[in-house]
Amino acid sequence: MYFKQILDERCGCASYLVAARKSHEAAIVDPSLDTAQYDALLRERDFRLRYVIDTHVHADHVSGARELRTKHAAELCLHESARVAYRFRPLKDGEELALGQLRLRVVHTPGHRPELISILIVNPPRSPEPSMVLTGDSLLVGDVGRPDFGGGDAAVQYESLTRLLRLPDWVAVFPGHFEGPCGKGMCGRPSTTIGFERLYNPLARLDRGAFVSTLTDGVPARPLNMTAIEATNRGLADMPWAMLTATPAVREIDVNALETRPPDAVVLDVREPEEYAHGHVPGVINLPQADLASRLDEVPRDRPVLTLCERGIRSLRAAQFLIQMGIEQVASVKGGTAAWRAASKAVAVGDTSVEKPRVSESEWAHAGAVSYRI
Ligand SMILES: [Fe+2]
Repeated sequence: MYFKQILDERCGCASYLVAARKSHEAAIVDPSLDTAQYDALLRERDFRLRYVIDTHVHADHVSGARELRTKHAAELCLHESARVAYRFRPLKDGEELALGQLRLRVVHTPGHRPELISILIVNPPRSPEPSMVLTGDSLLVGDVGRPDFGGGDAAVQYESLTRLLRLPDWVAVFPGHFEGPCGKGMCGRPSTTIGFERLYNPLARLDRGAFVSTLTDGVPARPLNMTAIEATNRGLADMPWAMLTATPAVREIDVNALETRPPDAVVLDVREPEEYAHGHVPGVINLPQADLASRLDEVPRDRPVLTLCERGIRSLRAAQFLIQMGIEQVASVKGGTAAWRAASKAVAVGDTSVEKPRVSESEWAHAGAVSYRI
């Protein structure tokens, strides 16, 4: 067999090319939008792409699956419960995809997302047992995929983790992420084994109650531009530009400069509405980072824009995205609302922001799917 893990440093995602050397049939799992890299690999090895599989509908990056299907006349596969507006081969738990002498066995492991699947790789000429599992965002290295945004369920995630950890010790685990917002405490390694995770994954040692409360503790910060990215991956919008692909330098200001900002400056608090309602800098507008791309028309281009979050991390990435979109007068507030509070400055409470649809009606209409809501 041939196996290659492809790491995308920009979004912390891992994708996979699996192929049978004799038959030259290949499968790609969780491809990024940069599909040229897979084209080159397939060409170099003279592989024919038979399946392209998304382990789930991604919320943090735009999938290249449909583009690969079109280019290579491959079958696009998702779990049968996936809610997307395009055709796909629906996979069932326990189903096997033949790839030359290899078998890709589907294991439904919901929790992070209802439709999430893991894929066991079996090479019968070598062993009847699986040697590897691609876990998507179910089991991560030292962590599990977050169930607290986008239709996940922590109790269901517990069942999926328990099921995966019943695999033999030697099974090598290759996750969908090594960094990024889909986990809370990933180790950073790009792979592990079932045996190691059973012993040393801190979540694997918790009982169901402790597992659920650990994973649902606090307000979930949805990923940057999640609304636009998820709608794009469901086939309901066409906004691949919503991915942050550049890392421009961002000017940072401190909370004193925030307090004495020019009167025409607009301050965007990119935290979740619940965090904003709990306490915010007076006079700032709540525009959660998840909705930034889908509400971009609300961001002025002719006035200074300051981004603000809890500690200055989300606001920095939000500022980078605004710069990527050609908005020039942008700065991020260093230390965020926590630094503002620590400086004993006045804090306002309550939700004063106007409720907005997460994807505008015109975008739904453009996607031809106005009646389909996520
Ligand atoms: Fe995910």
